[in-house]
This record gives sequence, C-alpha cells and structure tokens, in this order.
Amino acid sequence: MILRVVVLPGDGIGPEVTREAAAVLEKAAAMAGAELALEERRMGGAAIDAEGTPLSDETLEACRSADAVLLGAVGGPKWDHLTGEMRCESGLLRLRKGMGVFANVRPVWVPEALADRSTLKREIVEGVDLVVVRELTGGVYFGQPKERHGTGAEETAVDSMVYTQPEIERVVRFAFEMARRRAATSGRSSKPRLTSVDKANVLVTSQLWRDVVTELAGEYPDVQLEHQLVDACAMRLVRAPRDFDVIVTENLFGDILTDEAAMLSGSLGMLPSASLGDGGPGLYEPIHGSAPDIAGKGLANPLGAILSVAMMLEWSLDLPGAGAEVRGAVERAIGDGHLTADLGGSESTADVAAAVLGNLPARLQVVG
Ligand code: NAD
Ligand code: IPM
Ligand code: MN
Repeated sequence: MILRVVVLPGDGIGPEVTREAAAVLEKAAAMAGAELALEERRMGGAAIDAEGTPLSDETLEACRSADAVLLGAVGGPKWDHLTGEMRCESGLLRLRKGMGVFANVRPVWVPEALADRSTLKREIVEGVDLVVVRELTGGVYFGQPKERHGTGAEETAVDSMVYTQPEIERVVRFAFEMARRRAATSGRSSKPRLTSVDKANVLVTSQLWRDVVTELAGEYPDVQLEHQLVDACAMRLVRAPRDFDVIVTENLFGDILTDEAAMLSGSLGMLPSASLGDGGPGLYEPIHGSAPDIAGKGLANPLGAILSVAMMLEWSLDLPGAGAEVRGAVERAIGDGHLTADLGGSESTADVAAAVLGNLPARLQVVG
C-alpha cells in the first residue's frame, strides 16, 4: 500500500521547515519499509499569488483524499491587507473545517537538554509532559454573525462565539480517552488527569461546556477531572506546569494557551500538532506561524515540523515505531547541542535537520 501525504509548505518559514520535515518523513517511511508518495501543493499567500485563492477546491479535495496532510504555516505582511475569505488564515480555517479535524492535539514536552533553555527556571519546567486538546472547528473562529458595518464613530464589529452540545461532547470525549490512554501507556502509577478550561464565570458557551464535561465525567470515573477558569490556567501554566496531564479547551483559549505553553520547552518552534476528526486523514502542523521576521535566513527551528511528522507516523500512517524513532532522533540531536538560535544555539535549520536525519537508523529494529 502506498501512503499518500499532501505537503502544503505555505509561506514565510513554512517551506523551510516542511522541506526538512518531509525529508525526515521520507527516511522514516523507508526505514519502516513503507512506500510513500508526497504531493506538494500551494496554500496561503503562495496560493493567492498563483491561483487567486488561499485554498483551492482541488487542493482541499486532494487533502481530503490523502492519508495525511503536512502543513508549514501561512500568512505574512504581503497579504495582511486582504479581508474575509481572501485572507491566508481563512484558507487554513477552511482546510480544518473541510477536513473535519475537530480535535487539535498539542503536546508539550521538555527534553532534559532543554530544561535550561526556557525563560522559566529549570525546577519549574523539568519533567513537564502535558497535552492540550484544543477544539478546532467551532467557537469564535467560525460563529456567525462575523461582520463589520458602519463608518467612523458608528462603526461596529461583531464576532460570535457559538458552540453546540455535540461539538463540545466529541472533543471532550476525545480528551477523556486521551487521558486514559496516556496513563495506560506511560507506566506511571498515578490516575489519568483531565483539566477542562473555560470561562464559565462569564460566557454562556463556557457554561454549556462545563455542563457537558460534568455529564461525560460519569462515564470516566477513573479519570480525575477538574475545571479551571482560563485566566487562572494561564497563570498556573507558568507557576506549576507539572500539575497538568491533559488539558481540554475551546478553540481560542487553546490557541493562546499553547503559544504560552510552548515556552516551557524554550521555543514556539518546538511544538508540533496533530488535528484529527472521526476517521479520515489527519492534518499535521507545527503550532508556530510563518515568522516573517526570520523567513529566508535559515534560522527557523524545524523541530516543531519534524515532531509533527512523528505524530503523523503514529496517528495516521500506522507506523508508531517509526514515530518513536523520529522523536528519539530529535531528543539525541538536542542532547548533542544541535540547536537553532531561538534555543540559544547557532546552527541553521538545515544543520539541525541533518543531525536528526543522521540519528535515524537505516532500518527499524522492531517493525511497527
Ligand atoms: P509567528 O508564530 O509566526 O512568530 C512569532 C515569533 O516566534 C516570531 O518572533 C518568530 O520569529 C518566532 N518563531 C516562530 N516560529 C519559529 C521557529 N520555527 N523557529 C524560530 N522562531 C520561530 O507568529 P506571528 O509573527 O504573530 O504571525 C506571523 C504570521 O503567521 C501571521 O500572518 C499569522 O496569521 C500567521 N500564523 C500562521 C499560523 C499557521 O499557519 N498555522 C500559525 C500562527 C500564525
Ligand atoms: C494556529 C494559528 C491559527 C489559529 C491562525 C493562523 C488562524 O495561530 O494554528 O495556532 O489561530 O488557529
Ligand atoms: Mn496560534
């Protein structure tokens, strides 16, 4: 069977990091004896310039019929004057919605060798191992109405945060299952823990969210559940991040909390993500953006994109052994001091990726 992966490099540092991540994916697939076909397509600003739209129907269809999709990042100053459907970011939202990937998994992992690279103290960040499950296809990103009208002092803008019961239930169920699975596979003796983050003291969408979580908790008596308000969670993430196991939250809160949580590992460039739905292909992307300030300079950290490939191997391509090898190769590269500037190193994007590739064996020891 041929594994079909669509690659959407996008804009800014997107092409720089996906180039390296795709090379790792190719080597990892070969290592596992799997046949891989990569298909590159335009997305974001690159697609606006060449095709007149940030995400063409053909590209969306190619993504929907692939085994998995690897995305770099979209957007940049050149396209920032655009509005509505023509925005690069609207193309990304259409892709997520069109692929039905409602659960965005963002693991935060602090390898030992990075514990001194964070802006936070070693004793706070060492041993952090948490996952944020971010709802990805609802909330204020998609709610209607979303509009601006009037002019001058009469001008008004509206965004709408909307959630339905089933939208909340499916992502929260996903998070409960993830908490269970992590506890079962980690070998630790403690109970699985789930922190549901909301703003139920103010927002009715959060009050519904909390009701749905509380109701579902009855089905997961083995999972230790807590509710936390989003502002307090933001504080606790930098005060005591080891308190967390799995966090589940709505779309916008998850966006903001994960850029914050990325800094536990020392850099926004470290965090990967997997976006999953009910079956169908997964969408894999580092959580960072197109970083216009460093684009084209070979400075971008490729590890968030490479770790996204590790997640893809495990979750969409059924090659968990290869995914574990990629993670191990990343950990050894970091341990050997192969770091880009964001982590205080002086190596280029290509140097760091070459170190990871060099750490991958030619053949998997145990096929899986
Ligand atoms: P950004 O994530 O692009 O950059 C924020 C800061 O982090 C910058 O200083 C940047 O240099 C640094 N950074 C990010 N990734 C890095 C990496 N891999 N290695 C080293 N440093 C890295 O956020 P921004 O500047 O607010 O947004 C720029 C553009 O990217 C905007 O158009 C935004 O909409 C878009 N964006 C796209 C995505 C996506 O496609 N998934 C995600 C976030 C932002
Ligand atoms: C992310 C990004 C996107 C989001 C933007 C570019 C639409 O910040 O993937 O985290 O807010 O989801
Ligand atoms: Mn973001």
